[in-house]
Amino acid sequence: MNTMDKTGIGAAVPPETGVAGRVAALLARMSLAEKVGQLAQISGADFMPGPKAEELIRKGGAGSVLWLNDTRRFNELQKIAVEESPLGIPLLFALDVIHGYRTIFPAPLAMAASWDPAVAEEAQAVAAKEARAAGIHWTFGPMVDIARDARWGRVVEGAGEDPYLGAAMAAAQVRGFQGTDLADPERVAACAKHFAGYGAADGGRDYDPVYLPEAHLRNVYFPPFQAAVEAGVSTFMSAYMDLNNVPATGNRWLLRDVLREEWGFEGFVVSDALAVGNLVIQGYARDKRDAARRALEAGLNMDMASGAYLENLVDLVQDGTLSMDQLDEMVRPILTLKVRMGLFEHPYTDETRLEKVVALPEHREAARRAAQRSMVLLRNEGGILPLSKDLENVAVIGPLADSMEATEGSWMVFGHEPAAVTVLQGIRAKLPGAKIAYAPGPEIRRDIPSPFDEMHAGTKKPVQTPEAAEEAFRTAVETARGADLVIMVLGENANMAGEFASRGSLDLPGQQEALLKAVSALGKPVALVLLNGRPLSINWAAAHVPAILEAWEPGTEGGHAVADILFGDVNPGGKLPVCFPRSGSHAPLYYARTLTHAPETSPMYRSRYWDSPTTPLYPFGFGLSYTTFAIADLNLSAQQVQVGDTVTVTASVTNTGQVAGDEVVQLYIHQRWGSDSRPMRELKGFERVTLQPGETKTVVFHLGPDELKYWSTQANGWIQEAAAFDVWVGADALATLHAEFEVVG
Ligand code: BGC
Repeated sequence: MNTMDKTGIGAAVPPETGVAGRVAALLARMSLAEKVGQLAQISGADFMPGPKAEELIRKGGAGSVLWLNDTRRFNELQKIAVEESPLGIPLLFALDVIHGYRTIFPAPLAMAASWDPAVAEEAQAVAAKEARAAGIHWTFGPMVDIARDARWGRVVEGAGEDPYLGAAMAAAQVRGFQGTDLADPERVAACAKHFAGYGAADGGRDYDPVYLPEAHLRNVYFPPFQAAVEAGVSTFMSAYMDLNNVPATGNRWLLRDVLREEWGFEGFVVSDALAVGNLVIQGYARDKRDAARRALEAGLNMDMASGAYLENLVDLVQDGTLSMDQLDEMVRPILTLKVRMGLFEHPYTDETRLEKVVALPEHREAARRAAQRSMVLLRNEGGILPLSKDLENVAVIGPLADSMEATEGSWMVFGHEPAAVTVLQGIRAKLPGAKIAYAPGPEIRRDIPSPFDEMHAGTKKPVQTPEAAEEAFRTAVETARGADLVIMVLGENANMAGEFASRGSLDLPGQQEALLKAVSALGKPVALVLLNGRPLSINWAAAHVPAILEAWEPGTEGGHAVADILFGDVNPGGKLPVCFPRSGSHAPLYYARTLTHAPETSPMYRSRYWDSPTTPLYPFGFGLSYTTFAIADLNLSAQQVQVGDTVTVTASVTNTGQVAGDEVVQLYIHQRWGSDSRPMRELKGFERVTLQPGETKTVVFHLGPDELKYWSTQANGWIQEAAAFDVWVGADALATLHAEFEVVG
């Protein structure tokens, strides 16, 4: 097709009028129906009923198209929008590009485990470049929901349990997707989702109601969203669920009072998929018309695919229920983004560009680096890792060892064919001369299939019979018996984390633990590699398997990165962005709880449950290395400061081992008394440093009003108080190096 840019009326308004001027000129010429059209995001996929995309676009009845991933089709639809719709306003093509378009990066939870925002920024810059080359303008990411309940499937899409780390990762991802100029043709507009509180679903059950006091929202769940606003995020997505009995999609307090009035957000808000129409199902709106009115009044600009706006807004304005001003207010930021992105000047995508861009070697290099930096060494008894490259006879065992789907993980873009380097392939490439035997063992499956299963090739196979599973188990044990060393690759399939993927247990699914026990009983050295998108309760492994590497969902280059670490070419330095509970029944579990009248630190009150310890199996911030570090010389610039002043905290970190390595130095604080009880520890600073053997660096943190203030329930606002503060600096949330200071006012 002719991809020469043809410009619509938007471009006829000279750029000299400025963005606001162009938008105002456009608005002035738009009919009511065209305005409503801009507020509608329509499906480009055939699975949705209703009028065909072409018809709607031709009439000016769509501002954006989603669930389509086809450059030629983008151009076809865009041509209709630009040349045949009344005002020629270009479409925004949107898709979920969560951790890579063709080159898949580690899942966001894994990227957070790097504790290196530069990893997330680079990954999303590559994702943006590839997605944009395909014709996608706007991604539904980053997902910045704090998740403290590992049963919730979507924990994999975010940065874990902590607001401080979450805010850093949110901002980095926004910068990666958007760059510094929205007109940059190698970037996409970002979307902070799901506003807000989605990760706190009752029982970890996806979509279930959320009850969060305002202080908890503001202190814990909002910071990554606010960081996204400060980083210039173009759009927000409203969450599905009820927040304190008001659906987030119809929640005026969230969408107007907090987001726009307090934080000054000037972009637009899209609903989650079908969420406006779903306000009826949710028992909130009387019918779709009522849903459309209430969502719009609440400040929801764009209706994702429910049709509620398209079907009702014209009437609602015509009968005076809504005013034209209210409508214009919702349309304006959508047009603004289109103008800012240069879509009026360059609506089309060069259909030859994508394959050149995705072939760039630096994309795979970046993916490998990101995977290396994301992995967390959980156990290494007797220094069994790194393994020798002289090994001649290795068995690689487990259902995920050669699974491209599990290696790339959840949330692939539509139509993506998994093409990852699996762990088996990575090990074979690392030891080209060795005998590498492989046996998957029994397959693992969800008990209840996912609606996404059609998209995961691995799940289309016929179910393994019990006899075949037994045979596979036996073969796996025999294969391991024939080797000098066994690498087990266990965890969760791609469809076991993400949306529609919450679970009640955090155990290794299927017979994986039984297989691990049977293989361990052979008495050979065993290294366990975990591929998964959430914390797992690997209690038996933690006590019996000498080496455990948490590789998460590591992406296209995952297998190479695992082999790089197992065989010592890379020293692992990732840290957990979530704690690992000992059981799914312990969730939600997180380190930043408030103290109680009977802290667990007292022997008398140790047991919160009488049948198991409630401490995490691995704490937040935890991760080992092939070297050792000493963190010392904790120094505070003052013992006493005034409210509003800043305390500078320094500490030294030394590599006390034999090889170069990375340590993530973490700073935690506790306010000892105040208007409200404060968490026993809160992360307020971190830095990942690389050190040669014997090398020492000094890390510097600042504790000023931003770090010391909090939203107080009693004061009903942000306060910074005169109180005593504990400070810990160390290598995880159990850090013991301690100092204190007092704020006086
Ligand atoms: C998910 C969103 C996603 C949207 C569009 C929804 O089901 O909750 O995270 O962006 O679909 O695909």
